[in-house]
Amino acid sequence: MTMKECRKFELGGYLEHKKREIDESLDKYLHAESTYPESLHKAMRYSVFSGGKRFRPILSIAGYEACGGEGQDIMPVACGIELIHTYSLIHDDLPCMDDDDLRRGKPTNHKVFGEAVAVLAGDALLTFAVELIVSEGLNAMGPDRTVRVLKNLMTSIGTDGMVAGQVVDMESEGAGADGKTVEYIHSRKTGALITGAARSGAIVSGAEESLIECIGKYGERIGLAFQIVDDVMDAEGRFGGLKSGSDLDSKKRKLTYPLVFGLEKSKQTARDLISEAKDYVADLGERAVPLMALADLVVSRSS
Ligand code: IPE
Ligand code: IPE
Ligand code: MG
Ligand code: MG
Ligand code: MG
Repeated sequence: MTMKECRKFELGGYLEHKKREIDESLDKYLHAESTYPESLHKAMRYSVFSGGKRFRPILSIAGYEACGGEGQDIMPVACGIELIHTYSLIHDDLPCMDDDDLRRGKPTNHKVFGEAVAVLAGDALLTFAVELIVSEGLNAMGPDRTVRVLKNLMTSIGTDGMVAGQVVDMESEGAGADGKTVEYIHSRKTGALITGAARSGAIVSGAEESLIECIGKYGERIGLAFQIVDDVMDAEGRFGGLKSGSDLDSKKRKLTYPLVFGLEKSKQTARDLISEAKDYVADLGERAVPLMALADLVVSRSS
């Protein structure tokens, strides 16, 4: 990006353009609804195409481009990340977990397709993400980067990452205020995949180790901030019609940042994390403009 382009950078247009590319690729990669068994493929597509912001895949592309990556080689990984995110939301909403009725203002997957198909659609999205990265990504990235990006993502979402965070989230319902535990939960249940997405972009671009680490530190901070803001928005009732009243964190006695630290301190922590994140990528100069803008979006978003 030249200095002129940099001054012209407009986040709204950037997000719209990237989202369109991601949506077209997801549509191309996923099986058609008419593929047998139809219930499974309908359920997968229902949750993939129900209004997600595509924050994680856009972040992986921004990380890739900030490290000098060009073209579409990142797309199978970006889409795989969104499929993993979608699996995590379907399972998160299940009656045995958050027991939510609405997701993005629409009935949750299990409300439409039943619990068994919802569980299996989540399983299939996770599995298909790996299959996609291996089958489509291998050509684009070669074996070394494919293995490395998969290891990075599987570590992000596994027993030290997202799944661990979700377990402690469930086990901490009704628990007393505990700052260490809430940071553990948030940096894993949400922060880990966001970190993994940013790092994936750097890995696929072939960036050197120190740069991958910097992008990872940036990702850790915006990932934790993302969940703090999710808690704040929930506590302030800012999800409006996107959530039903019984879906709120307070009803489930969730361990949240506002519960432990109060609303103002939580908002300040999120802002501090965003400013730290931006410092980690500042040396990249103009190439990091989208990463900077995405970091700011974490605290200014309205959905
Ligand atoms: C929601 O994530 C779940 C959390 C981890 C907080 P997003 O806010 O990115 O959800 P969508 O995909 O845009 O709906
Ligand atoms: C979701 O956290 C984290 C994952 C799905 C891994 P939340 O339970 O806070 O997300 P929402 O509020 O349902 O979107
Ligand atoms: Mg949850
Ligand atoms: Mg939830
Ligand atoms: Mg939430």
